Amino acid sequence: MNRHLITVFSLLLVCINVLPVINAQKTKKPAVSTNNVTYYKTLGASKKVALLMTKLTIDEKIGQLNLITPGGTVTGEVVSKDVESKMKTGKVGGIFGIRGAGKVRQAQELAVKNSRLGIPLIVGMDVIHGHQTVFPIPLGMSCTWDMKLIEQSARIAAREATADGIMWTFSPMVDIARDPRWGRISEGSGEDPYLGSRIAEAMVKGYQGTDLNDPTTMLACVKHFALYGAPEGGRDYGTVDMSKLRMYNEYLPPYKAAVDAGVGSVMTSFNVIDYVPASGNKFIFKDVLRKKWKFNDLVVTDYTSIMEMMEHSTGENMQEVASQSLKATIDMDMVSEGFLSTLKKSLDEGKVTVKEIDNACIRILMAKERLGLLDDPYRYFDEKRAETEILSAENRAFARKAAAASFVLLKNENNILPLKKDMKIALVGPLADSRRNMLGTWSVSGDHEKAVTVLEGIKSLATSTNNILHAKGANISDDKDFARRVNVFGEEIVIDVRSADEMIKEAIEVAQKSDVIVAVLGEAADMSGEASSMTDISLQSSQKKLLAALKTTGKPIVMVLYNGRPMVIKDEMNDVNALLDVWFGGTEGGHAVADVLFGDVNPSGKLTTSFPVNMGQIPVYHSMLNTGRPDSGNQSKFRSNYIDAPNNPLFPFGYGLSYTTFEYGKPVLSSQKLTKGKELTISVNVKNTGKVAGHEVVQLYIRDVVGSIARPVKELKGFEKIYLTPGESKEVVFTINEELLKFYNETLEYKAEKGQFNAMIGTNSVNVQSVTFYLE
Ligand code: BGC
Repeated sequence: MNRHLITVFSLLLVCINVLPVINAQKTKKPAVSTNNVTYYKTLGASKKVALLMTKLTIDEKIGQLNLITPGGTVTGEVVSKDVESKMKTGKVGGIFGIRGAGKVRQAQELAVKNSRLGIPLIVGMDVIHGHQTVFPIPLGMSCTWDMKLIEQSARIAAREATADGIMWTFSPMVDIARDPRWGRISEGSGEDPYLGSRIAEAMVKGYQGTDLNDPTTMLACVKHFALYGAPEGGRDYGTVDMSKLRMYNEYLPPYKAAVDAGVGSVMTSFNVIDYVPASGNKFIFKDVLRKKWKFNDLVVTDYTSIMEMMEHSTGENMQEVASQSLKATIDMDMVSEGFLSTLKKSLDEGKVTVKEIDNACIRILMAKERLGLLDDPYRYFDEKRAETEILSAENRAFARKAAAASFVLLKNENNILPLKKDMKIALVGPLADSRRNMLGTWSVSGDHEKAVTVLEGIKSLATSTNNILHAKGANISDDKDFARRVNVFGEEIVIDVRSADEMIKEAIEVAQKSDVIVAVLGEAADMSGEASSMTDISLQSSQKKLLAALKTTGKPIVMVLYNGRPMVIKDEMNDVNALLDVWFGGTEGGHAVADVLFGDVNPSGKLTTSFPVNMGQIPVYHSMLNTGRPDSGNQSKFRSNYIDAPNNPLFPFGYGLSYTTFEYGKPVLSSQKLTKGKELTISVNVKNTGKVAGHEVVQLYIRDVVGSIARPVKELKGFEKIYLTPGESKEVVFTINEELLKFYNETLEYKAEKGQFNAMIGTNSVNVQSVTFYLE
């Protein structure tokens, strides 16, 4: 077809597209043309996008709403067929799951060179905790309580990903989670909305920078909107049902913080909200996100979640659910192809409007414009930068620092840690030399072959490698069926050819020849993460057996725990002399473990999820309501407690030890009275009373003593991470104003209420000192 013919043809298509609308409008007055720049601008389009919209046929508009994946590391069915021809004919708006400048360029060329208007694709990827240089899993990163570090991790991830052909990340995941049976607790920032909100902001800033047009920044996508982290029984994709008050006060804040920080896109969740699947939920998208929060940018569904609305039984066929979704103001359909295959029909039958399709298409094109794609479709394929930056020495050094900062020291009896570098160490356990497991879940672009194992890390710092005696000791699990389910992305649980007894015997032998045992135990990388819910979150029996055997040697035991969730480790706590929780530290995790075990780095991580005493205690978190019969601490009858276990978790939110000690002075208020519009301060002196320098996370909690609704026993309202050399002290000052005391009341008004408040300052959520002030 020559250019002239194309123009005639496109005019024809525009007419076909526009005529029914004009005809329909003949009955209404006044008739407004809906295919001009001015009109599209009223829908929020820029001049460039508005102009483009005037040229698009309805089929091409619908094509923009389609997000496909060609396969690879996927989390569901791959629906799209004839991907290439769809890209060539404008039936695809975006693609995800491919990377590499060359490969992505090819895909981009298919769309740009062949489709009628040459609109570039937006290319997405799950860049979750680093891109090719992998940082600790998000739950680990949250334990750093270091917003600069977290922002920087997202910044580096964006630099690597944008050189690799990706301009849109499906991160941050900010779902509050209080049930460690849910495997995806690993992907979020834990149980607290205040901390979660600060992390959400830091991540958005890190990915998007100050200018999305800068080709080293990328579009962030906050997910999973909404409430995905609260499924019944911790079962992934499961039913969520919660009061509006809990929703507004505890679960929505981190998403809102991301929106307020300017996040460029939002992803739907798989669950229902008030019995309506999120991907078709008008309340959460139209009313909350669009109207209340004024979010006018791109909303994408989660993987096949439009299609899944049929399983939720809120629609009979794809046409029904797809139109529900569009009407809920969802713009882009990830993988279902429900929009692509049914919206035209729905339009013809009057079930959706052109305007609804226009709105969605404009928001997608606007995202492409913000990324600079409409000017230069190939700006994210920077092979030179990819060569020098991806997995660079600097990025690895940062990963090592971030990993060490994420570790939480849970026990250190008689200061057995740090270890001396010339000690004879028995390094045992299934994770001591397991490269495959070091990166953790959701590290799709990470190459585990590039990761450092604990054995390598320890050997690199030990005075002599001859002092390090290694034995596997046990399989992560002996259960072959379980291993098969975990190993879907590769062999993470390797079942040894040797029997359990043989492996234990070898471990005992090396232990007997050593000064100390370092037992590297825990979960395989994909025992947490998506579709990895568990009913038993304690150590696998194979490892329990190993630990029991090691104990019989009488040698001191340092346990290094790999985990994507808080685990039930009460028994192990008694069996070992020290316990360092290292989550999954990423590419440089093995080096970081050595840094901390040998004391080159003083651990400073603090938990962002409570560790339950046992499974029956779930959910346990620090900001519970008091109840009418609060726990008296001695498990008595007729109180809100258990008669067989305490209410308190094994380790509370905010807990974590250091190789040094910190002494807190008395918290001091600048005034006991806070008047509206004014502020008061609360300050505390913190001193390093130990022998080494270290970081401390000073935490502020507030209790609203009397409210119009029941109020939590404490809520995190501030924190500061400080660094103190031995003997040094510092005054930490928190500012309290009315804004900080606001909450959603019974009628969902966001207000602070007058009266008494307790401000609590301390080293974790339990060990606090309290002072009282009044809001007048
Ligand atoms: C997950 C999302 C992810 C998407 C694309 C889904 O299964 O829930 O978090 O971004 O897949 O990979």
